[in-house]
Amino acid sequence: MARFQGKTVIVTGAARGMGAADIRRFHSEGANVVVTDVLVEEGKALADSLGERALFIQHDVSNEASWKSLFETVEATFGGVDVLVNNAGVYRPATIAETDAELVEKLFRINQLGTFLGMKYAIEPLKRRGGGSIINMSSVVGMAGKPSTMAYASTKWAVRGMTKIAASELADFKIRVNSVHPGYISTEMLNAHDEQTNIAGWMATPMKRPGTSEEVAGLVAFLASDDSTFVTGAEITVDGGWTL
Ligand SMILES: NC(=O)c1ccc[n+]([C@@H]2O[C@H](COP(=O)([O-])OP(=O)(O)OC[C@H]3O[C@@H](n4cnc5c(N)ncnc54)[C@H](O)[C@@H]3O)[C@@H](O)[C@H]2O)c1
Repeated sequence: MARFQGKTVIVTGAARGMGAADIRRFHSEGANVVVTDVLVEEGKALADSLGERALFIQHDVSNEASWKSLFETVEATFGGVDVLVNNAGVYRPATIAETDAELVEKLFRINQLGTFLGMKYAIEPLKRRGGGSIINMSSVVGMAGKPSTMAYASTKWAVRGMTKIAASELADFKIRVNSVHPGYISTEMLNAHDEQTNIAGWMATPMKRPGTSEEVAGLVAFLASDDSTFVTGAEITVDGGWTL
């Protein structure tokens, strides 16, 4: 039986990369899926390719008003929301010397504030369903202090911490909140590095390869499903052993 039949799942930043893989996975397991992104053409094309049970909504996670209208539209369309994947993110490698306030603020607004707003506005819709699951995309650099990650990794450390705060606050409402920590995953985000840097990076991990978006989607679907009903506040790596 399809695990997500009758469930509605929102994935932010889902026009491409890991978010798009999440959407395909949830849809293949029976969910109504909501693709949100600032990339309109790609997001719409993904939803159109899935046909029924799929909707694209243009949505900037750093914009508070857009969260309110997102949940209103999804509840009106599908009758409720069961799962939110806070996946949207941007990455810019920069040393501390290269990092200015503008970069810190930009990454904060999308990666950290966007995740916070998603959790805040998901609470009432999830409560109306009697509970649900929120999955926040952090990173392996949200668990370690690596060079050239000050602006980005500080947001991912925050996502990891906010996840635990939300998990403890929302458990009474049967809302589970977990963070996922990918290592090197082959998406456009890795284009921020040159190829040699990427290859050297994943060759230094035990599995000596990058992961795929589909390998991350398997974990996200587990955390969204009733296979993980006693899992909350967890931080789970999907990194080929990067963090060992
Ligand atoms: N690729 C990796 O190796 C890696 C590793 C660790 C963590 N992550 C995290 O995983 C998540 C997915 O990344 P990805 O690798 O698929 O990257 P990606 O760049 O392919 O996808 C990110 C998506 O987020 C969207 N986005 C950016 N700003 C947005 C905004 N303001 N509002 C809504 N959407 C916005 C982009 O348009 C894009 O579609 C991110 O949170 C990223 O930080 C990625």
